Amino acid sequence: MGKIHVLDHPLIQHKLSLIRDKETGSKEFRELVEELALLMAYEVTRDLPLKEVEIETPVAKAKAKVISGKKLGIIPILRAGLGMVDGMLKLIPAAKVGHIGLYRDPETLEPVEYYCKLPYDVEERELIVIDPMLATGGSASAAIDFIKQRGAKSIKLMCLIAAPEGIERVRRDHQDVDIYVAAVDKCLNEHGYIVPGLGDAGDRLFGTK
Ligand code: PRP
Ligand code: URA
Repeated sequence: MGKIHVLDHPLIQHKLSLIRDKETGSKEFRELVEELALLMAYEVTRDLPLKEVEIETPVAKAKAKVISGKKLGIIPILRAGLGMVDGMLKLIPAAKVGHIGLYRDPETLEPVEYYCKLPYDVEERELIVIDPMLATGGSASAAIDFIKQRGAKSIKLMCLIAAPEGIERVRRDHQDVDIYVAAVDKCLNEHGYIVPGLGDAGDRLFGTK
């Protein structure tokens, strides 16, 4: 069963509170989401394997550690996941970025796919699927299905806020996927919004609606 990591670093919690506030406008919201993604990327990459190499400092030869192993891939779920890409790329600039376009049908709450473009070598990469919100879990679960169908073998999911229902759904559908979140909220409301959550992440990022 995939592990749940709740990232309770004070900087993450502080910035999360700022984006929850309905008075926070799009410009600040966007900056904070980027910063949160960067801080969370630090934790999500904590278990990357290292190897020892020989280097020469200005003073002496030394053994030093560098990241080894698989290459990374970041997969934002459009639209709102886009807001997290630049923050992650600041820490892992060599990562390739794939995109999955999904929107949640407001009546059925089922995800509808409209775009999918992934790095050609997803099967060789450690992939991090990113989306600010994990509500029913339908979008994240479908996105993970798509990338598994294209051969992906190593996948993590990183979201800012999750509902217990979404965590349960992804854990049930994808037992091999670890989930990283900054908060697990109380529940979903009758429209499938996370309570208390932060409202519609895509609309708040892009100033729509
Ligand atoms: C939001 C969010 C997730 C999805 C979560 O996207 O960014 O992708 O809802 O809900 P779920 O867990 O119940 O599937 P939305 O469908 O509003 O699309 P958008 O990013 O284009 O605004
Ligand atoms: N999508 C959002 O943007 N917010 C929610 O609370 C749930 C789904």
